[in-house]
Amino acid sequence: MPSVFIKTYGCQMNERDSEAVAAQLVAKGYSLANSEAAADVVLLNTCSVRDFAEQKAINKMQNIVGAARNEKRDQIVGFLGCMAQSRGRELIDQLPDVDLVLGTQKFHRVGEYLDELLSGRRRKVVDVEAEAKSEAAIREHLLNGSAKTSVSAFVSIMQGCNQHCTFCIVPSTRGAERSRAIPDIVAECRELVARGVKEITLLGQIVTSYGRRADVWNAVASEARHRFSTDRDFLDDANKAPSPPRSAGAVQNGNTPFVQLLEAVHEIEGLERIRFTSPHPKGYGDDLVEAYARLPKLCESAHLPLQSGSDRILKAMHRGYTREKYLGIVAKLREARPRIGIYTDIIVGFPGETEDDFEQTLSLCREVEFDNAYIFKYSPRRDTPAAGMPDQVPQKVREERNHRLLDLVNEIAARKYDSFIGQPVQILVEGPSKKNAARYTGRTRCNRIVLFDGSQRHHGQIMDVKITRTGSFTLYGDPAIVNL
Ligand code: SAH
Ligand code: F3S
Repeated sequence: MPSVFIKTYGCQMNERDSEAVAAQLVAKGYSLANSEAAADVVLLNTCSVRDFAEQKAINKMQNIVGAARNEKRDQIVGFLGCMAQSRGRELIDQLPDVDLVLGTQKFHRVGEYLDELLSGRRRKVVDVEAEAKSEAAIREHLLNGSAKTSVSAFVSIMQGCNQHCTFCIVPSTRGAERSRAIPDIVAECRELVARGVKEITLLGQIVTSYGRRADVWNAVASEARHRFSTDRDFLDDANKAPSPPRSAGAVQNGNTPFVQLLEAVHEIEGLERIRFTSPHPKGYGDDLVEAYARLPKLCESAHLPLQSGSDRILKAMHRGYTREKYLGIVAKLREARPRIGIYTDIIVGFPGETEDDFEQTLSLCREVEFDNAYIFKYSPRRDTPAAGMPDQVPQKVREERNHRLLDLVNEIAARKYDSFIGQPVQILVEGPSKKNAARYTGRTRCNRIVLFDGSQRHHGQIMDVKITRTGSFTLYGDPAIVNL
């Protein structure tokens, strides 16, 4: 059987999609190659969020096809995911050696299309069509694809986004919001826990809007019920899983569908930790804030994408909240869980951003003291409203603001890291450190990496360690008390 090498660009959703593709191909008998040169099939799972990410994947593909031609290797090469979705056939026009272009609703079809290409039945495949129910197709897991068994897994709960932030290409690459049904998600989580997983991260482009679109949600829920009652393999899980809410998609007892999902996943015995990403600040209603206080498995860490500290810019971005509202959410979360880690995304140089707007972002960062922030220079994306807005900010100014904000954010983050010294933290041990095999790595509930002198017996354990020192974005711990 052929071997495959998959390289992933972009976010955790893309990582998860690639894992599902790898699991699908391994189930068909493929082996996973260690490098692109050693593989019969090379797939690049792409990102379109910024131009830089697209250019990286295109350059990589040029190198791959160039090397294969020089060495006279016969290789099938393809683009998957967001850039494949937004550029489609154009990618083959630009790089005629590319055999396969599959969009974001087609990951589950990679195997069948590769069969056709490998057998010579087709020479090229481009498929970027929408496909009903594709949101429920990302469900296979590899878990022990690497040397270690994973204790932490990602579960895709929804696809798409309807927020249409004016800078963002995601609503066009991932499509409209479509959510999987609760029993379907719970069944997948149960299976993962049965295979040794202790921590699950629920994934989607805007998870806090999970199940909001009742029309789609109802259709999917009834389909899942049908499948659960007819497919023997699913019957057991379906019997164990809670039945779908009576009025799917609706708020129940003050809880949004997303909080209903958190509750259902929280019930799973043997699961220790729940995380989710990416939420939208407007989704942090009282029900979600209360969920943090009420559900002990829900880790005290929140990714709260800010984008800008200026109301004027937030409005132009179509973010749907103000600076004051954002600060209110942070205050409520810290009240519910004082040790909560708060992480954010910020864009500098959005069209029309003045020095005064930027200063407001700086001042908000000083006020909130984020545990960490990912800072992006605005990158105009095709077919987005912001790309056509007047007053595009010159590249030099974007760079300069990027540096100033990075300096501030890093200074605050380092201070926050230092405040852990001498503190006890609970970690879930994920395995040996990639850089130093004598060290083991774990993650705190607030999502920080901790390194300690460990061994195989610690793998998958929840342990208490004391933080002794800090490195760059790492904590070093001493297993003060070990749960044996
Ligand atoms: N909720 C989504 C957001 C995707 S994009 C998710 O996490 O899947 C991730 C981050 O990239 C955004 O929060 C934003 O800060 C940044 N980003 C998105 N579009 C951008 C653009 N056109 N230019 C620069 N940064 C961008
Ligand atoms: Fe993009 Fe805004 Fe949705 S950043 S993914 S349009 S919430």
